[in-house]
Amino acid sequence: MPKHIVRLITLIAAVLVVAVVAPQLLTAKSFYRFGHYRANAVPEIAAKEPVYQTPRYCYGCHTERRAQWSAGSHKTVTCEVCHGPAQGHPQNGKLPIPTDTVRLCTQCHEAMPGRPHTQPQIQVAEHSGGQQCTVCHNPHSPKIAAAITKVSGNAAAGKQQAAACASCHGSEGTSPNDTWPNLAGQNAAYLARILAAYKSGDQTDPIMTPLAHALSDSEVQDLAAYFGSLGCKATNRGKTAGDAAAGAAMAKNCTACHGEGGRGANPAWPKLAAQKPGYVVNALKAFRAGLRKDPMMANVARGLSDSDIANLAAYYAVQSCPATK
Ligand code: HEC
Ligand code: HEC
Ligand code: HEC
Ligand code: HEC
Ligand code: HEC
Ligand code: HEC
Repeated sequence: MPKHIVRLITLIAAVLVVAVVAPQLLTAKSFYRFGHYRANAVPEIAAKEPVYQTPRYCYGCHTERRAQWSAGSHKTVTCEVCHGPAQGHPQNGKLPIPTDTVRLCTQCHEAMPGRPHTQPQIQVAEHSGGQQCTVCHNPHSPKIAAAITKVSGNAAAGKQQAAACASCHGSEGTSPNDTWPNLAGQNAAYLARILAAYKSGDQTDPIMTPLAHALSDSEVQDLAAYFGSLGCKATNRGKTAGDAAAGAAMAKNCTACHGEGGRGANPAWPKLAAQKPGYVVNALKAFRAGLRKDPMMANVARGLSDSDIANLAAYYAVQSCPATK
């Protein structure tokens, strides 16, 4: 064989050997330190021990959350259970804010046999439909505390005072027009609370604010007892702008607080059944715009479009009234 051919073959063999051997020697086992998820990066990340701090670590900086959390019923669930291990935060990065709270919260709260009853349990589908838990619950202080006001008023005395309300709310508490609310059969505790809110300025309305200012505390109680004791006679079978069938589907998201068909779930919160659709539309838009303030309704109304609101109002308008107490 000629010499130059031998040299060429040797050269090719040498190049092949280098091509096979060099990558083995020169390539990193894991690309994680370069920020790439290649080669052994995944097992390397998995092998890292998460390093937890304690809630105490968060106290200095997140005072507001800490205050909510340590006053509420989640104080046994530490911050990092939901936010992940915090070593290196805030210098080296943000902590995740859980977005899929259905997944997070059901890990501890979905009803199942054998789960200790000290941990309150729910049937998820019935409880919340498909909604995120944070629509209604504050994760840092999840208990929904209904401030149940005791109504100590005298309905007979309230009936006398109610003459002053008849021009707008009807002589029997059923309003004559579409945008003024019915009061008959409404929860008395809610009526007392909302009248007190008009009085204190927590809620304002150009018509109701001056009227409520003129009422004494005991008149508020009497009026609430009277309207709460009336049977609701409203029949709203007329035409409305929204689509009641579409509203029915959305109203599943409201039953936890307003009851089936809006017939009430909690005495401190309003019934919506047979309420005037124009009033319901105005109220929902006021919550959405932040003009009427309530932390729970603010979360709920934020996600509603104008047509959702019209549909919900149409649905509640045709619900049968709450039964007489
Ligand atoms: C030294 C002060 C400090 C400590 C200690 C601290 N944080 Fe923070 N945290 C911050 C700052 C500053 C931000 C805002 C970062 C930003 O917006 O860039 C933040 C943001 C967050 C966020 C939101 C991230 C976002 O995207 O807005 C969460 C959740 C959080 N911290 C949880 C915790 C938890 C849980 C602890 C305790 C284990 C903790 N933090 C301890 C200062 C701190
Ligand atoms: C049960 C789970 C849970 C626990 C325990 C918890 N958090 Fe949160 N945290 C959340 C969720 C969910 C959000 C998102 C809030 C929302 O969507 O309204 C959040 C939001 C935050 C935010 C605000 C992020 C932003 O900018 O909106 C901070 C800061 C925070 N948490 C800090 C803490 C601290 C500090 C603790 C402990 C004292 C703590 N969290 C305990 C679930 C939890
Ligand atoms: C790691 C488990 C765990 C997670 C995750 C968790 N919780 Fe809890 N939760 C508890 C325990 C334990 C209690 C009972 C505390 C007690 O009564 O001392 C509780 C109490 C509650 C209560 C009842 C309050 C009362 O006093 O009646 C509500 C409501 C609640 N959690 C909602 C939520 C929501 C919403 C989330 C998600 C943002 C969530 N939880 C995530 C463990 C958890
Ligand atoms: C539409 C609003 C709404 C949504 C969404 C919602 N809840 Fe609730 N939840 C409530 C109300 C209202 C109560 C109080 C009911 C009562 O007093 O029985 C409550 C009570 C609870 C309780 C306490 C039950 C008890 O027996 O003490 C737990 C636990 C709870 N919710 C967990 C969750 C979890 C987890 C999610 C998300 C999957 C969720 N909730 C979503 C409205 C809601
Ligand atoms: C001049 C008309 C007028 C008179 C008189 C009047 N109201 Fe009203 N009332 C209204 C209007 C309008 C609203 C709805 C305000 C809104 O859209 O926020 C309202 C709302 C209310 C609400 C809130 C209802 C709800 O579901 O939240 C209560 C309670 C109420 N009035 C009680 C009374 C009482 C009690 C009297 C008599 C002392 C009275 N009103 C007299 C016009 C009137
Ligand atoms: C977590 C509980 C909760 C949920 C869920 C909820 N609401 Fe409410 N809603 C309230 C409370 C509490 C009030 C009383 C607010 C106040 O005092 O101003 C209220 C008030 C209202 C009012 C005003 C009623 C009146 O007489 O003035 C309307 C209308 C209303 N809600 C509609 C809805 C609709 C529609 C949904 C579902 C899309 C819904 N709410 C879901 C708690 C809730």
